[in-house]
Amino acid sequence: MSTKATKRTARVKPGQREEETLRVLISHKRIRERVRQMAQDIRRDFPNEPVHLVGVLKGSVLFLADLARELGGEVSFDFISVSSYGKGMDSTGEVKMNKDLDVSIEGRSVLVVEDILDTGLTLKYLLRLFEERKPKHLRVAVLLDKVERRIADVKADYTGFVIPNEFVVGYGLDYDERYRNLPDVCVVRLGPRGKTKIEA
Ligand code: IMP
Repeated sequence: MSTKATKRTARVKPGQREEETLRVLISHKRIRERVRQMAQDIRRDFPNEPVHLVGVLKGSVLFLADLARELGGEVSFDFISVSSYGKGMDSTGEVKMNKDLDVSIEGRSVLVVEDILDTGLTLKYLLRLFEERKPKHLRVAVLLDKVERRIADVKADYTGFVIPNEFVVGYGLDYDERYRNLPDVCVVRLGPRGKTKIEA
C-alpha cells in the first residue's frame, strides 16, 4: 500500500541557491516510518531467504542503506548505473548502461531498489536485462512513484509514496548532482515562477 504525499513549506536548506526554492514534500520522519513498513512487507514475502538488493546508482543509495538496515536477516547488495536523464530536469528518453553489476544474480532473490519511478523506461530496461540472468525472484522497491508520468508498462512491487508530477530532490535524488544529501524529499523550483513540472 502506498501513502499519498502531503505538502508543507520549508526554510532555506543547506546548499540551496538563491534562484532556487525548495518545499518539503515528504519529511524525513515520514520517510523513515514508510521505509520501515516497506521492509516489513518485503520480509513477510521473503521470511527466511537471503535478499540481494540491487541499487540503481546514484539516487537509490540513501533509500537502499536505510532499507537494508530495516530488513534484517541475510542481505547483500550490489549496484548498477544507468542514465536516462540529461543534466537538467528533462529525460532524454534513452537508457544507457554506465556500470554493470559486480556479481551474478542467477538463482538469487533479487530486489531492485530505485529512488523514483517516472516514465518507467529505466525500470523496463533493467527488468528485461535482469530477467535474462535468471534470478529466482525479481521484485522492485521504489521510494517514489510519479504515476501520471508513466510511459512504459511497469509497476513496482513495493512503493513508498505516490507523488505528483513535480521535480523532486533530496534523500538521494539530485538536481545537477546537488541536494542528494537533504534528509527530506523536496520539490525544487527555479525562481519564484520557475518550472517544477516536467513536460512529457
Ligand atoms: P524513468 O526512466 O523516467 O522512470 O526515470 C527514472 C530516473 O529518472 C530516476 O531513477 C531518477 O534518476 C530520474 N528522475 C525522474 N524524476 C526525477 C525527479 O523528480 N527528481 C530527480 N530525478 C528524477
